[in-house]
Amino acid sequence: MNHSILIAPSILSADFGAMREAVHALQDGGADWIHFDVMDGHFVPNLTFGAPMVAALRPHCNLPFDVHLMIEHPERLVPDFAEAGANSITVHAEACVHLHRVVEQIRELGCGVGVALNPHTPLETVRYILPAIDVLLVMTVNPGFGGQAFIDLMKPKIVEARLMIEQSAPHVLLEVDGGVSPDNARELVELGARVLVAGSSVFSAPTPQEGIRALRFALVSQKV
Ligand code: DX5
Ligand code: ZN
Repeated sequence: MNHSILIAPSILSADFGAMREAVHALQDGGADWIHFDVMDGHFVPNLTFGAPMVAALRPHCNLPFDVHLMIEHPERLVPDFAEAGANSITVHAEACVHLHRVVEQIRELGCGVGVALNPHTPLETVRYILPAIDVLLVMTVNPGFGGQAFIDLMKPKIVEARLMIEQSAPHVLLEVDGGVSPDNARELVELGARVLVAGSSVFSAPTPQEGIRALRFALVSQKV
């Protein structure tokens, strides 16, 4: 089971002065995807980086780039991120009045399609479009910052998301994002997660390679 779990370290927690080295270290450490947290200072109370960062790192890494857009009106910038080399683009349901239209836009640009839900947003929001997407991202912190505590109330949501996926769209990858660490990784997989985003736990380890190794070790060794 565990070899099918994908680890997606977030470069939000990397040294912004050394992003090239960060993606090299993540690739060397066996990451499956690189997670890019894009924040606009409106949808979330923080600003990070835009499509130029994705484009600048693209030549330095062969891994899939998983772009998480925490921005208002994502449809305006989705083409820039596709052009920059994103492999998958995730938009927030809360930021899209016409979510299905944005899903189709991302698909037509040739990228994998993700939809993210804030902690309070019901799974019902995506029920009828689930077959049209590739990744369902369940936020397990309120988006905006790395290093926050995992919200325990999200555990039943992960279980229910897994059930909904199995019933109507088994191809969809269930991604969890926020407060993921070796302490809870195994439990989250047992609950139904298939992609683990981890920022601070990877980059607070002595090296990112060791941070990734600790997550993988937790998946095979930890009792829940
Ligand atoms: C939160 C971001 C997450 C987060 C992950 O707004 O979407 O990707 O930074 O960081 P940790 O693992 O530190 O919670
Ligand atoms: Zn994220």
